[in-house]
Amino acid sequence: MAFIEIHGPCRIQGGLTVQGSKNAVLPMMAASVLNRGITVLENVPRIQDVFCMMGILDSLGCRCALHGNRLEIDTSKINGWRIEQKAMGKMRSSIMLLGALLGRFCEAGVYSPGGCMIGKRPIDWHLRALRALGAEIRESEPDGFLHAQTTGLRGAEIIFPFPSVGAVENALFAAVAAVGRTVLRGCAREPEIGQLCHFLNGMGASIRGIGTDALIIEGGLPLHDSRFVIGGDRIVAGTYLLAAASCSGEVIVDGVQTQELRALTGVLEHMGVSLYQEPELIYVHSGQRLRAVSVKTGPYPAFPTDLQPFLMAALSRADGTSMLRETVFENRFGTAAELQKMGANIECSGNIARIDGVETLRGALVRARDLRGGAALTVAALGADGWTRVSECEHIERGYEDICRDLRALGAEIRRREDDGDREDTD
Ligand code: UD1
Repeated sequence: MAFIEIHGPCRIQGGLTVQGSKNAVLPMMAASVLNRGITVLENVPRIQDVFCMMGILDSLGCRCALHGNRLEIDTSKINGWRIEQKAMGKMRSSIMLLGALLGRFCEAGVYSPGGCMIGKRPIDWHLRALRALGAEIRESEPDGFLHAQTTGLRGAEIIFPFPSVGAVENALFAAVAAVGRTVLRGCAREPEIGQLCHFLNGMGASIRGIGTDALIIEGGLPLHDSRFVIGGDRIVAGTYLLAAASCSGEVIVDGVQTQELRALTGVLEHMGVSLYQEPELIYVHSGQRLRAVSVKTGPYPAFPTDLQPFLMAALSRADGTSMLRETVFENRFGTAAELQKMGANIECSGNIARIDGVETLRGALVRARDLRGGAALTVAALGADGWTRVSECEHIERGYEDICRDLRALGAEIRRREDDGDREDTD
């Protein structure tokens, strides 16, 4: 196990270009199996979840080669449609291969997926959508093995009860392979779904309604080799913007579509942070104590649930009482207990967190319980007095290329160390 040590308080200052989007690249990697041939993805973040997905694709017989940030996936020699349980358990996005393998081979075998423990995270809407498109899916207890088979996928009309990102993505893969027209209604509108649709269209698919909650897919078209440049990661961008806000810093983040962060920039303005924006660049400057705010998370374009732990960290030192309402995941306040160890005053009841801002946080031994929660503790530590140690930082590495490198470049005193103490990672 590894941990991150941060010495605060420090004021971060400078600029950085944000890495490619995790939530965009993972479904595209899964979708690559729909085509028999080569997919090239550029601006791929070098993060653990990408390495894990490469491992799963390799285990199916694909050849994945990552050079710098360019990933080439050759799916022409796939020799299996079944994924091992251990590989599935490592990440949530492995479930994307259910729809993609079904689309390519009319058969797929997967296990219930892993991922961050932030709620129950069932996959019933994924399965319902795939069944509506003609898949027969058998679930076997107790190991959670799912075997999907079809004599031929057929277009259908599907209405999602809630805009689930993953369920829409899985349905898209099957719909691209299905014969005839599919209409997906009540779709999530997260920008990563838009990117995925453009990527699939670049492979030969026909998807209309991109960016809306109704997607129309003309399925069964021949697919071909393709290349796609992944957009910047809006959650990583938001991480560094909130980091600057919470430690009276001054940061320029570029390489991200500013409009995708509108909910965050609106909240930052209410908190008293100065902002300047261009289409792919945001500058924030926070020179005074933040003001308390009340924020509700929700599906895009509402405030993203993935940024909620960072907002909680920033508001811990704001002037006044803030309220956070989490409406996407039912168990996403795990960071509160760790922030309390640093002196934060947070009370959680159901899906509401009440944060009474304190003047100072103090360094403490805290634990990363999940990807964003762990990164949020790192951000909180920048504004805390003394040393903070964030243990189990492997969670953070699932989604950040190198959070220590980035924050050090902005002036933070931060380092990653292995638990046995004999290896210290700098750059
Ligand atoms: C994706 C993102 C994750 C983000 C989340 C919400 C990726 C790799 N991950 O996760 O970072 O936090 O969207 O923006 O893109 N649900 C069901 N049944 C289902 C599917 C979902 O009940 O079959 C529920 C979930 O438990 C959750 C809500 O719907 O409460 C939203 O989940 P969903 O949008 O599916 O999230 P993910 O795709 O897992």
